Amino acid sequence: MSVGLVTISYIVATILFIKSLGGLSNPESSRQGNYFGIAGMAIAILATVFGPQVIGTGSVITIMICMAVGGSVGIYAAVKVKMTEMPELVALMHSLVGLAAVLVGYATYIDTNTSFVGAEKTIHEVEIFVGVLIGAVTFSGSLIAFGKLAGKISGKPLLLPARHFLNLALLVGSIVLGKWFLNVEDINVGLIPLMSMTVLALLFGIHMVMAIGGADMPVVVSMLNSYSGWAAAATGFMLSNDLLIVTGALVGSSGAILSYIMCRAMNRHFLSVIAGGFGTEGGTPAAAGSAEPLGEVQPISAADTAELLKEARHVIIVPGYGMAVAQAQHTVFEITKVLRDQGIEVRFGIHPVAGRMPGHMNVLLAEARVPYDIVMEMDEINEDFPNTDVAMIIGANDIVNPAAQDDPNSPIAGMPVLEVWKAKTSIVMKRSMASGYAGVDNPLFYKDNNRMLFGDAKKMLEEVLGHLKG
Ligand code: TAP
Repeated sequence: MSVGLVTISYIVATILFIKSLGGLSNPESSRQGNYFGIAGMAIAILATVFGPQVIGTGSVITIMICMAVGGSVGIYAAVKVKMTEMPELVALMHSLVGLAAVLVGYATYIDTNTSFVGAEKTIHEVEIFVGVLIGAVTFSGSLIAFGKLAGKISGKPLLLPARHFLNLALLVGSIVLGKWFLNVEDINVGLIPLMSMTVLALLFGIHMVMAIGGADMPVVVSMLNSYSGWAAAATGFMLSNDLLIVTGALVGSSGAILSYIMCRAMNRHFLSVIAGGFGTEGGTPAAAGSAEPLGEVQPISAADTAELLKEARHVIIVPGYGMAVAQAQHTVFEITKVLRDQGIEVRFGIHPVAGRMPGHMNVLLAEARVPYDIVMEMDEINEDFPNTDVAMIIGANDIVNPAAQDDPNSPIAGMPVLEVWKAKTSIVMKRSMASGYAGVDNPLFYKDNNRMLFGDAKKMLEEVLGHLKG
């Protein structure tokens, strides 16, 4: 493939990637956005593999074999992964991008076929140094994030006494090593500062994510997504591949924007997230975290829930992580249809960090074919709760916790929440009194107008559906 054709292919791929990002910003166009992304990536891979930088049939065959192996692992992981384990998989994928940047950095450095001199050589070496640095931080940070999300490492923040100084020392150490690296002529000597910096960067990645509490993990995953983009862009500079630079920058900046949006949704400052220390183990029983129970809860049966729903005129359903665990979205939609057929207004209230990944609830509801026009964002629906007869909370907890507004000492103080307690009646559907991801007690459960429907969300909703139909 000629250089000209490769350039045109790269431009087309870039346009497709931008269209893909545009499509993914809206549930209705997200499927199309994915197709644009797939097409862009296919063009990018073909143009790169058959472009002038890959020399000889042997190289093409080697790349094909590697792609077949890597692709098979990817397909297997994507098919096997449960929707609720998606953030873990994403974190693991980010670590691979980081690792790739590190390996490409080393390979580029020891490649004796390059003949850069003067300023060009310095620029090339800065690219290598920065690429390896970002790659190593992304690699180790993502592995720790994976461990935390998968519950293999405690969600509790690790707060070392002089942690900010430790970070500063690692940064200063890397700068000193960078200066040494740039002044070395001999590759064998240059490898010493490069390897030393890699160790420091790996330690920094581990320390940075270990210090972040469970409740901030969504932001961390999207931040690492951003880092992986910058690592890819750095790889693009090292390999002089324009498309990789552009694609990396797109991923890097969209990840940064997403981190910002999520911080806003959780009322957290980005810097305080990075400084760490918020959140606990996650999933611990409420009683363990709080000194005393906040009062009596009022259980309700599936039959009485169905009665309340039948008598209602306006219903808002708030889905959370438990709906994903129970895979109850299809039953939720069945109930929605029955109620709507009876002239009852049913809408969904979606919190930006409901579930375990951005857009988690939207994806599940779309899969169950819930119409988009009744799925509302938190800001769109929050003021409607006072005019709502029944707010039905399905496997959600932190995102409907009034303590975020009422208790300045709560770990989730200031996080915007769905104000379900303002509805005439709220019904919380969950299996026990266990807390949610942030590990904090929820005063909603004890409110006079709240009822608890205990049990697995899918099982209980099927019972409710039976009563509604019966
Ligand atoms: P959570 O606060 O985690 O609460 C989920 C509740 O679902 C739990 O209290 C659990 O109670 C219940 N549950 C679990 N399995 C169930 C089942 N089979 N049937 C019925 N209920 C079940 O979830 P949320 O309200 O969606 O809030 C999300 C939390 O996750 C926030 O703290 C957020 O910061 C964090 N987070 C979000 C993301 C993103 S980006 N969305 C990523 C990582 C973390 P029982 O055990 O009693 O049933």
